[in-house]
Amino acid sequence: MTGPAITVVGSVNLDLVATGKTLPAPGETVTGAVLARHPGGKGANQALAAQRLGASVTLIARVGDDAMADEALALLTAAGVDLSGVARDPGAPTGVALIAVSETGENQIVVASGANAAFTPERLGVLPAGALICQLEIPLATVVKAVAQAEGFVCLNLAPAAAIPDALFQRADLIVVNETEAAFYGEQIHRARGLVAVTLGARGAELRRGGELLASASPPKVEVVDTTGAGDTFVGALTLALLEERPLGEALAFACAAGALAATRAGAQPSLPLRSEVEALL
Ligand code: RIB
Repeated sequence: MTGPAITVVGSVNLDLVATGKTLPAPGETVTGAVLARHPGGKGANQALAAQRLGASVTLIARVGDDAMADEALALLTAAGVDLSGVARDPGAPTGVALIAVSETGENQIVVASGANAAFTPERLGVLPAGALICQLEIPLATVVKAVAQAEGFVCLNLAPAAAIPDALFQRADLIVVNETEAAFYGEQIHRARGLVAVTLGARGAELRRGGELLASASPPKVEVVDTTGAGDTFVGALTLALLEERPLGEALAFACAAGALAATRAGAQPSLPLRSEVEALL
């Protein structure tokens, strides 16, 4: 694979997924769900999404020195993502996400961060050249250090939402948030220097700069099975399409279609589409 070089600095989780009829309300117990285990974590998902779509990806992350790590890294290994920057932490378990999925494909996620939380800045080495993608499932100080090192295109997926220094908004070439995260950041997000993509679920996505709408796209109609990983697919796909210098509207449509395809299949990483599948859907 000789597509654009992308480094992802972020999280790796093993997803324990219970799929049932409805999601529990606080304090409620829902029975009758079916359990599955899938590789996940926002960083790992975005790395695999970009690789399957044609980028040449390096993942820098931390997992535990345990059997869950092998399970969590299996699909990245199979896809040829460079994992030489994934360290095994003898003092913390591999991150685990407990995910409930309803019959309409909605989810609730609780993450036990494990080794992701132990990915402190002094454990970050020198980044390879190329573009950088980060999310907020590892310590913020590590994200800040990675972004400070980056010399190329920087994409920040501000998920899960958390207060971040203004310098990150000013350095990012692309910020990606969903509607909930956009509401958390409010006006601050439109003071960013670069592009801001807001995903709108089944309604697609919008791309703005300084609050001005530059492009919008609706995804092709698909049958939703599980939305887990759809946002991560969008991040990987939009970053890749922008690195390929595709026009903004075309890049956004590509990312929406990739995200929509991911929602048609169960699990985070098993659902991530190949480039040929996205092109066929478009
Ligand atoms: O964005 C989806 C991901 O969030 C899941 O794979 C889960 O691991 C959590 O990190």
